[in-house]
Amino acid sequence: MKIAIVFGTRPEAIKMAPIVKECERRHLDHVVIVTAQHREMLDQKLEVFGIEPHYDLDIMQENQDLFYVTSSVINEIKPVLLKEKPDVILVQGDTTTTLAASLAAFYLKIPVGHVEAGLRTWNKANPYPEEINRQITSRLTDIHFAPTQGAKDNLLKEGFAPESVYVTGNTVIDALLMIVDPHYTFNESPLSTVDFVNRRVLLLTSHRRENFGEPMVQIFSACRYLVENNPDVELIYPVHPNPNVQKTAKEILAGVPRVHLIEPMEYRPFVQLMNRSYLILTDSGGVQEEAPTLGKPVLVLRKTTERPEAIEAGTATLVGTDKQMIIKHAQHLLSDKLAYHEMATKANPYGDGKAAQRIVDILLEKVR
Ligand code: UD1
Ligand code: UDP
Repeated sequence: MKIAIVFGTRPEAIKMAPIVKECERRHLDHVVIVTAQHREMLDQKLEVFGIEPHYDLDIMQENQDLFYVTSSVINEIKPVLLKEKPDVILVQGDTTTTLAASLAAFYLKIPVGHVEAGLRTWNKANPYPEEINRQITSRLTDIHFAPTQGAKDNLLKEGFAPESVYVTGNTVIDALLMIVDPHYTFNESPLSTVDFVNRRVLLLTSHRRENFGEPMVQIFSACRYLVENNPDVELIYPVHPNPNVQKTAKEILAGVPRVHLIEPMEYRPFVQLMNRSYLILTDSGGVQEEAPTLGKPVLVLRKTTERPEAIEAGTATLVGTDKQMIIKHAQHLLSDKLAYHEMATKANPYGDGKAAQRIVDILLEKVR
């Protein structure tokens, strides 16, 4: 069996890395194809996991749009798949790389395995375009690797055959456990100068397309207010390189005392930063899934979520993008130690670190 593993963005690289490593460990015939929908942020992750792709489609352009990414992936991946003739292609999650690579595989009648299958909001506009990327990818998929029972139930409700859907846990927990290092120390400013003992660090990540414009203005204004009104609080925000995010972040947060706008971080220091933060404010999917393992409460800066497990488990709260609501929830967790402790001590519903092993076991059984 030859497995093609395809990914293109930061979160896909992190979540596919444990599967690549598992294929290496078991000496399975596999080929890693990166679209490079992301460039620097992808390369950072390839390096930390020691992955050298067999093919790099190198498609990223400055401020690219969805038409460009979709068409480039389909056109550039075709000759690679024709040459390699894999028995199965693995895609992950909900990006345009995921959708376009699945479609290309379907056109070439190559079976598709979808990692992190079955997440849904059933709202076309939230997250945009990821909800529709996921739904279409499911239609193109032959083997669905659902991270949770809830994700499996979503797929069964949509009529997928039960024997094609497996609950595996999320590979992000495998990746996190491979990388987490409680002894890691920050060597570079500004993180090396932050007093994590006497100050409380709010970690912000925000990049979602549906939050561009006014929602991001509200998010960043709330963060600014929280820092200005809590003298022991520092805000650290590794700003996503998307120009739409950079511009608004700089307008509202640059130059504010105790606010650090920094470059997107490598995975090992980022995990350590999560570990040393007091509270995480994020619209990221992966960060929501990782934070409970590190015992960090999360405020989710989105109107809807396809990750209800964290909310139900009590490790995350869906606060939306309204400035006052964000301030209210964050201030509550800054002031009420009991409420904070409650959120910080719940178990992670997303997995046990063995998802990649399960996925490879299933592939070996199903694809021959
Ligand atoms: C993409 C995914 C989103 C995922 C996010 C993770 C789609 C439609 N969106 O959004 O689901 O949550 O990645 O971060 O697939 N850029 C760089 N360097 C990089 C990466 C991005 O400069 O390493 C800049 C470029 O100007 C690029 C722009 O960001 O054109 C947008 O990148 P793109 O992948 O299209 O969208 P994201 O917002 O990153
Ligand atoms: N991450 C990172 N460096 C950063 C910010 C995030 O390594 O500066 C990691 C984070 O730990 C998580 C993943 O990137 O595993 C999430 O990616 P992102 O938020 O870009 O995408 P999403 O998960 O929302 O699709």
